[in-house]
Amino acid sequence: MKKLIAGNWKMNLGRNDAGNLARNLAEKAAQANDKYELILCPPSVWLTDVADAIKGSAVKLGAQDVHEQDKGAFTGNLSANMLKEAGAAYALIGHSERRQYHREDNVLIKSKAENAIKNGLIPIICVGEVEEDRNAGRQNEVVGQQIAESLPASGEFVVAYEPVWAIGTGKTATPEDVRAMHAFIRSALAKAVDRAEQVAILYGGSVKAANAPEILATPNVDGVLVGGASLDEKEFWAIAQAA
Ligand code: PGA
Repeated sequence: MKKLIAGNWKMNLGRNDAGNLARNLAEKAAQANDKYELILCPPSVWLTDVADAIKGSAVKLGAQDVHEQDKGAFTGNLSANMLKEAGAAYALIGHSERRQYHREDNVLIKSKAENAIKNGLIPIICVGEVEEDRNAGRQNEVVGQQIAESLPASGEFVVAYEPVWAIGTGKTATPEDVRAMHAFIRSALAKAVDRAEQVAILYGGSVKAANAPEILATPNVDGVLVGGASLDEKEFWAIAQAA
């Protein structure tokens, strides 16, 4: 399986910087290769700019969120078909910042994922425990429940494991933590869906060029979801080269 190297720009970069970063990466990743696929998830207001910047290259576009309905009176939201029309192939769903600041729960995340699939997007469904759960040794219980309740019943999707305490903190899970959790997720997927071995499982949380080789070499790690380091062209490109 190709490694997925996804950059989550969150609420960062102005229009020029977003376009330039995307254009420079698209120049470097002009041709598809069998090692990795680059995915850029810019703020939604720049999706079409980034779509133009990566046109003709092997770089793919992702949204950072999607609404669970096709259309209607939902002020401020964007539907999966709009995101698809803007050029997105993927959509992050249930990122811990959405779960925390927008009170998204597993039930909502599942309906967003199902709507994304129905409209031709591949959801990247984020799961992960908070520090308190990790300290209490409850990480498998929490992530197991997120998997059981937020995965769509069918269709293509990606899972991203992001321990919340490792996001933007510079703390990365140890190689053993990553290995153990990804093995656990693979076995939880096997109980939940057909062809669990074909579901890509990404790791996220303070991934950088320096730790990417070890993380990407861990069994059941099929790629990375990168926040802070994806805003830096050299760092992000170096992470891709570790695949
Ligand atoms: P980080 O963010 O790489 O800055 O820790 C990862 C994420 O939130 O997807």
